[in-house]
Amino acid sequence: MSHGPMKQRAEFTHKHNLNSGRHGWLRLTPAYSVKLVSEILCHYDKAISVIDPFSGTGTSVLAAAEQEHSAIGVDINPFLVWLGNAKLAKYTPSDLATALAAVAKILRSEETFPAQPPSIHNIYRWWHPEVLSFLCKLRGQIRAIAKKHSKTANLLDVIFCQTIIKLSNAAFNHQSMSFADDKAEYAHTPEVCIECFRDNARIVLESLAPNPSGKGTVVLGDSKAALPGNGYDLLITSPPYPNRISYIRELRPYMYWLGYLKEAREAGELDWKAIGGTWGVATSRLTVWKPEPDMFLPVSLGEAVSAIHAANGMNGRLLAAYVHKYFCDMWRHFQTIKDKLKTGAKVVYIVGNSSFYGVMVPAEQIYAEMLDMAGFVNIRIETIRKRNSKKELFEYAVEADYATASPMGQIAAIGQAYAPTLF
Ligand SMILES: C[S@@+](CC[C@H](N)C(=O)[O-])C[C@H]1O[C@@H](n2cnc3c(N)ncnc32)[C@H](O)[C@@H]1O
Repeated sequence: MSHGPMKQRAEFTHKHNLNSGRHGWLRLTPAYSVKLVSEILCHYDKAISVIDPFSGTGTSVLAAAEQEHSAIGVDINPFLVWLGNAKLAKYTPSDLATALAAVAKILRSEETFPAQPPSIHNIYRWWHPEVLSFLCKLRGQIRAIAKKHSKTANLLDVIFCQTIIKLSNAAFNHQSMSFADDKAEYAHTPEVCIECFRDNARIVLESLAPNPSGKGTVVLGDSKAALPGNGYDLLITSPPYPNRISYIRELRPYMYWLGYLKEAREAGELDWKAIGGTWGVATSRLTVWKPEPDMFLPVSLGEAVSAIHAANGMNGRLLAAYVHKYFCDMWRHFQTIKDKLKTGAKVVYIVGNSSFYGVMVPAEQIYAEMLDMAGFVNIRIETIRKRNSKKELFEYAVEADYATASPMGQIAAIGQAYAPTLF
């Protein structure tokens, strides 16, 4: 496919969210832009029912609720479920007053027991020892002041998340989070730490109003196994891409501090359940993974998997299994959505292609073939933006309409085409 002079278009990335009220509460590089979602939603002139099966930071659910629609998000990561619901909550003036009083109390720096530092690997790579002791004290104060799970605790935790990342040595100049080279940059004085907390409190509390006018919620679930509710008019989502980005890895500082992760092994277990997960055991288990025998294998997927497999010995075999499993999981997901949609409902998947050893994995085409096989009609692929200046990496919207039940009978036969030669 030729793309012409396609641009990187930052307005369609997470960067656009940073100045968009509650959408800017937490930075997740693979989050998509609220602008993208709003442009799709503005075609509906009456309230509709929306589902996002891979809701991440809750962009689609919040955008839909802000436009008076009702929306539900699903995510496999409990930290993101918490964050999504904190962003979607309706906050009253009295909630704001209570949160402001709590922030003021923390700034008066009353003595409390500091919390234990989290057991994240190589913690001083993240935080300078003095910054770490500030954060432990801050965590202890938040725990002492706000009742767990209260709105005040949620707001203080969002402020805390912003503070830990701004005071850390994390760098965001790559697709996934890395560390800055200049360690001096993260040796902040106590005054700078307190100022950072105060600033973040102001940013978060100023962005509370207005409340979203529609109803939105995020639930914990596995979107390749089951989805909640039914009768949705629109499914809009951005699933993980087949590019080995681990969301648990990206989110680990928050997850450790807030108690969603206690040890490294839990991270790998959660990533194994996630689509495209690749951390710890999630990679070692791939070495023995085998596709289910009745798996639908689109031709473009079979070709990509075979070429990656042939490209580079053991590593090629591992990456071929990674790509193959990713699409097996997506195929299972496509099976779960059909009876959840109204006839005529629209689905929009924002996805990027990827490349391993120079072999292109055309995720957009594979999605289109899978949606076709699952019984969707009017399948369209639109190129949204270029993702990377060097390689042929793009982001696409794959759209389709839901019409009738699928012609499942053909699936088993096609599934035999490539699998026996690979495993
Ligand atoms: C690209 S991110 C979504 C970003 C989102 N659009 C946003 O703006 O923040 C993909 C999400 O899918 C979630 N995920 C991965 N596997 C899942 C599964 N099996 N069921 C539900 N969610 C899953 C990940 O935890 C991650 O949050």
